Amino acid sequence: MDAIELLKNDHDAVEELFQRFSDGGGLTGVVKRLTGNGEKPGQRRAIAAKICQELHVHAEIEEQIFYPAVRKLRDDELDEMLDEAEKEHGTIKERVSATEQALDDEDELKTRVSSLQDCVTHHVREEEGEMFPRLEELMPEAERSRLGRDLAAAKRDAKTAMTELGRSTALRGSGSGRARKTTAKAGKSTAGVKRASGARRR
Ligand SMILES: [Fe+2]
Ligand SMILES: [Fe+2]
Repeated sequence: MDAIELLKNDHDAVEELFQRFSDGGGLTGVVKRLTGNGEKPGQRRAIAAKICQELHVHAEIEEQIFYPAVRKLRDDELDEMLDEAEKEHGTIKERVSATEQALDDEDELKTRVSSLQDCVTHHVREEEGEMFPRLEELMPEAERSRLGRDLAAAKRDAKTAMTELGRSTALRGSGSGRARKTTAKAGKSTAGVKRASGARRR
């Protein structure tokens, strides 16, 4: 799969989770909540934890594999976009961590998820609207496919590491703190991605 397509699919998946968290957002969300058809607090917490996990994996594979490959093209425009993107990843990570810390507080969680969503939406708009089109011009299709395969493999490794971590945490822990522990620890499990990117470095 083309690297750009894979990353866009990731963006769409996270956007869908944000929509689910806010019951479709806007008026739809208000109606759903008023009619009792909104997500329950427990489900909302699980969705928020999933958003954090997905963003963690996505940011890692971009930073370890995708951005360095784009950097290698030595294009001034792309370099500027990458500098900006890396800064934004820093902000996104801070907000992911703030979200993870608010998993047990329904009201606080809504505020944190909304602030995370603002940042992610802005970042995705720049990647899809500026970086990816420029990359499509400069990187041949075959190379983008190769990069897509590397990203897919790294993503599988990172998800496996996260699942194993989640399973062992679930065995040890119980109660409402479980989701928080799982995502917080998963946030540190970058070894899988690093291994994958190192192994595939050409
Ligand atoms: Fe992205
Ligand atoms: Fe990104």
